Amino acid sequence: MIDLAVNIDHIATVRNARGFVEPDPIQAALIAEKAGASGIVCHLREDRRHIQDKDVFALKDAVNTKLDLEMAASEEIIDIALKVKPYLVTIVPEKREELTTEGGLDIYHHKNRFKDLTKRFQDKGIKVSYFIEASEDQIYTAAEIQADIIELHTGHYAESPNAIIRQHSLDMLITGGKIAHSLGLEVTAGHGLNYYNIIPIKEIPGLIEVSIGHALISKALFVGMESAVKDMLKLLS
Ligand code: PXP
Repeated sequence: MIDLAVNIDHIATVRNARGFVEPDPIQAALIAEKAGASGIVCHLREDRRHIQDKDVFALKDAVNTKLDLEMAASEEIIDIALKVKPYLVTIVPEKREELTTEGGLDIYHHKNRFKDLTKRFQDKGIKVSYFIEASEDQIYTAAEIQADIIELHTGHYAESPNAIIRQHSLDMLITGGKIAHSLGLEVTAGHGLNYYNIIPIKEIPGLIEVSIGHALISKALFVGMESAVKDMLKLLS
C-alpha cells in the first residue's frame, strides 16, 4: 500500500475566484483525511495565488495527520514556515510566471545552502523533503545534506508525449528510487499524477507516498472529495 497525501491548493484557487470563504480548504482537508489521506499538502507560493498565510496556520491546527508545507527557499516563506511548524516542509523551485512547479530543485549545485536550510528546520523538529529530479547527483546530495525525504518529480513521466519516453522516465524514477532507498532516504513522488497514470508509479522501489492535487480536486468537483480520495486509494492499494 502506498500512502496518499492530498494537495488542497486548488480548493483555495476556487475560493479566491470570489475572494470569500467558500469552498473552504480546511473542510476539504478534513474530508480527505476522513477518506483515508495520510497527509495534507499545501503550497504557500510567494505570489499567494491560492493558499494564503491564514490557511497555513489554520491547517496546522486542524490537520490530524501530517501537514506538508510546500515552499520555495525564500527568507519570507522560511520565516512563516518556522512559525507554523508543520510536520514537514517540501522545498520546491518556484518561478512567478509558471502555471505550476515546473522542474525539480537543484540541490547539487547549492549544497551548502540547502545543508544549512535542512538543519534550520530539523533543529525546530520539522522534517525536510526536497522535490528533485531522479538524477544520481541530486539524490546523493539529498543524502549528504541529511534530508529526511526526497519527493521524486514525476512531471516528465506524466507529461510524456509517447510510450517510449514514458517508459524511459519511469525507468529513471525506478533507478532513482532504488538509490534513494539504499541511502536510507524516504521516497515519495508527485506532480501530474492522476487516475490513469498512477499504477506504474507503484513500481518505484521504496515509495511510501504520493502527493496529488490537480487530478484529485478535478475529480472531486464531480464526485465529491471523499469519493475522489477513496478511488485513488483503491488504485494505490
Ligand atoms: N508535488 C509537488 C512538489 C508539487 O509542487 C505539486 C504541485 O503543487 C504536486 C506534488 C502536486 O501536483 P499535481 O497538482 O499535478 O497533482
